[in-house]
Amino acid sequence: MAAFPPPPVNTIDWSNVGFRVREVNGHIESHYSVKTKQWTAPQFVTDPYIRIHGMAPALNYGQQAYEGLKAFRLPGDKQIAVFRPDKNATRLQYSAEFISVPPVPTDLFLDAVKAAVSLNAEYVPPHETGAAMYIRPQIYGSSAQLGLSPPEEYTFCVYVLPTGVYHGSHPVNALILEDFDRAAPNGTGSAKVGGNYAPVLRWSDKAREEGYGITLHLDSKRHEEIDEFSTSGFIGAIVGEGGEVTLVVPDSKAVIDSVTSDSVQRIGESFGWKVEKRPIKYAELPSFTEVMAAGTAAALVPIRSITRRVPSSSAQSLATSAAKDHQRVSYNKEANEETVTYIAKDVEDPGPLCIKLLTQLKGIQLGKVEDTFGWRFEV
Ligand code: COI
Repeated sequence: MAAFPPPPVNTIDWSNVGFRVREVNGHIESHYSVKTKQWTAPQFVTDPYIRIHGMAPALNYGQQAYEGLKAFRLPGDKQIAVFRPDKNATRLQYSAEFISVPPVPTDLFLDAVKAAVSLNAEYVPPHETGAAMYIRPQIYGSSAQLGLSPPEEYTFCVYVLPTGVYHGSHPVNALILEDFDRAAPNGTGSAKVGGNYAPVLRWSDKAREEGYGITLHLDSKRHEEIDEFSTSGFIGAIVGEGGEVTLVVPDSKAVIDSVTSDSVQRIGESFGWKVEKRPIKYAELPSFTEVMAAGTAAALVPIRSITRRVPSSSAQSLATSAAKDHQRVSYNKEANEETVTYIAKDVEDPGPLCIKLLTQLKGIQLGKVEDTFGWRFEV
């Protein structure tokens, strides 16, 4: 029997993987029928095109949810480990309830993820190239159903592909989306469903054209509190006068429970830092020393600045914040736009807190640092 894992393929430039779809050996599928009331054993399928009825609620009514997690080669390229797949299994079960899809049991989820990674192991990037194998589990209603009620059949798939980090590793400018709300106050904002992502596309595309690499959402009811970035969770960091560090994450019903943000919070606590999960007022933005975006695809993105096109009712809303905060805030009168800057324009490196957190996170993921949390699941 050939040794596992096989070496990485030599058809990919591992130093420049990027964030795009690459075809691999295949994916895993499992199917559920209301007649049997169970999911079938995971099956390996080589065709990347899936068979689904054109009248499936997944295609017509958005009955779909997904996950994102990653696998890494450990030192010496001798083992592969998946990062915290148990958390993703739980989160997919949470999302499934929102869209009336039967939950995928944790054991099936873990088996399917391990099978998808091991049957495509030659596409797991070499240790420490900065790239990883991105794992994309999906669930959806797949049989024909015209009325607005759940169908009889469901599909669970696990796709994998090698990727670099989304948004890159340099500081990124963020734009607050003022004319579009990601999720209704009592809606699906905390579920990882496609309906939270597709409506953002035209706004994030426009923002990118204007020089903003990431978009940020405020609470949709009042636009007063920070929810999350369109692709990832929000983390603010404050360094106190005595050097003590506090990480602040939003407590909101409309944000996804980010596995990366949770990991970063636990790592911060292991450094002796404080973690506060609480509503974050927009007006607090100038008080943060650093801001980061945390997500599986993104890892930890340093935020250079956050800009808001101020609604006319509250022109220059940050100008009233405490005097010490003013240093960070600039106001463009012509565009009626205010910007909070965390990292100067000519600096290409993340802030020191981001570097410290990311180094430890990557160390654990890559097996360079002892995994005292029990986060690595070997394949
Ligand atoms: C992830 O980080 O895994 C996500 O699902 C975000 C997506 C926009 C790439």
